Amino acid sequence: MDIKDLANVKLGPLEPLVARIYRYAKRLPIVKEKLEAEYAPIMEELRKSAKPYAGEVESHAALPPEGKAHVDILAEIRELERRETERWKDGYVSGAVYHGDPEHIAFLNEAYAITSQTNPLHSDLWPSIAKYEAEIVSMTGNMLGARRAVDAQVCGAVSSGGTESIMLAMRAYRDWARDIKGIHSPELVVPTTAHAAFDKSAQYFGIKLVKVPVGPDFRADVAATKKAINRHTICVVGSAISFPHGVIDPIEELSELARKRGIGFHTDACLGGFILPWAERLGYAIAPFDFRLPGVTSMSADTHKYGYAAKGTSVVLYRNYDLRHYQYYKVADWPGGLYFSPTFAGSRPGALSATCWAAMMSMGESGYLNASRRILEVGGKIREGIRAIPGLKVLGDPLWVIAFGSDELDIYRVMDFMTKRNWNLNGLHRPPSVHLAVTLRHTQAGVADRFLADLRAAVDHTRAHPDEEGGMAPVYGMANTLPVQGVVTDLLERYLDALYEV
Ligand SMILES: Cc1ncc(COP(=O)(O)O)c(C=O)c1O
Repeated sequence: MDIKDLANVKLGPLEPLVARIYRYAKRLPIVKEKLEAEYAPIMEELRKSAKPYAGEVESHAALPPEGKAHVDILAEIRELERRETERWKDGYVSGAVYHGDPEHIAFLNEAYAITSQTNPLHSDLWPSIAKYEAEIVSMTGNMLGARRAVDAQVCGAVSSGGTESIMLAMRAYRDWARDIKGIHSPELVVPTTAHAAFDKSAQYFGIKLVKVPVGPDFRADVAATKKAINRHTICVVGSAISFPHGVIDPIEELSELARKRGIGFHTDACLGGFILPWAERLGYAIAPFDFRLPGVTSMSADTHKYGYAAKGTSVVLYRNYDLRHYQYYKVADWPGGLYFSPTFAGSRPGALSATCWAAMMSMGESGYLNASRRILEVGGKIREGIRAIPGLKVLGDPLWVIAFGSDELDIYRVMDFMTKRNWNLNGLHRPPSVHLAVTLRHTQAGVADRFLADLRAAVDHTRAHPDEEGGMAPVYGMANTLPVQGVVTDLLERYLDALYEV
């Protein structure tokens, strides 16, 4: 049997057992050897995509004996940057670069250059960074309902990204629940569509993750969530918007479940936090999702996405100071002195916070409102354009992160065709689908029409050539089924290894 054939095996309730057998079996030399032989051709494809410069651009496994001239080093960096910029600049990429106008980038770069030596770990040396971070948190909190929140002292911190914001909050809930509620076997209740960062938090912090299937509209199922909550639950999660399908979970109902039980509720607004408040102002029907709801006790919102800052910042917010205190790290008996840090890192790039502050100050309310208007308009056009293509269906009712699948075609082959036309879309699972996260890049003239024309061509091609070989379709196909889950995660491990190959 070939690895690819496993994709057709349906195990049902035997899944966990087979996964376990697989974990043991793969340690046997004979199984290991067979698996490696099966992995080899797939890895060859993956390695090619991970290392496109291999053999073409000089590589440096060890330090050069003598330092090279700045001009030569910069030329090398510029050349690779040039090759990689065109695709996102011209709007072929889902998400990734959210603003990308040259003047905006130059402005951010200048703010970074001015502050590149700063480190907020030394708040005495660089109080300016503490000022920027306090203001980033306050501006974000006020945008997300802090001013109108009852019984709240909304506060927070600047982190390195959405994942860190989420992990900080989940660890804070774990320790808060142990201290205040005596919960020693903590559980976290999330919809299956919640970001992988919640899974990562559960793994890192010894929290049991309880995943609740979403409804046919791809939004969290309130009744099923209610059933999943028990005396070990420390926090319930909802997304506004969800990464896979771009929809808003029923945050009001979910957060009420949590409030009634006296436990935490986290709205993950990493992707939606800097668009939804403006969408609401623009008249879109946006159900409440932020601190205006009394049950929302924490939120994450990413400045490095639709906040249009440089990569490397996000904001985690709490309803009150007590909760934030569980996030902090402080130690008083270390020989290295009194040590305390608000987030996971020790030393941090203050320049990224200064740059984030600069981005927010330069955008202002009107800037975010305008950007959101453009993104939502293009999102609507693309959503309706996809709905009009026979053979495709839009999943749920999204605004600007639009997932689509098909009942008749292999959607991953459609994605492969789009890749050949230079597009970089996100492949999704369960159900098989693909999404485009619309950014300001897609609001440039002609980009939405080009996307829809290429998508129509992709559908026609896939219909005409249903058995075409190659591309990522087989890997995505496999990843949708067990027992090959273990196989897929093995491949991901090897892919990560490949990234570190010189
Ligand atoms: C809803 C949601 N949450 C969390 C994250 C994680 O953010 P990051 O990649 O910045 O860690 C993302 C990223 O796309 C997201 O869409």
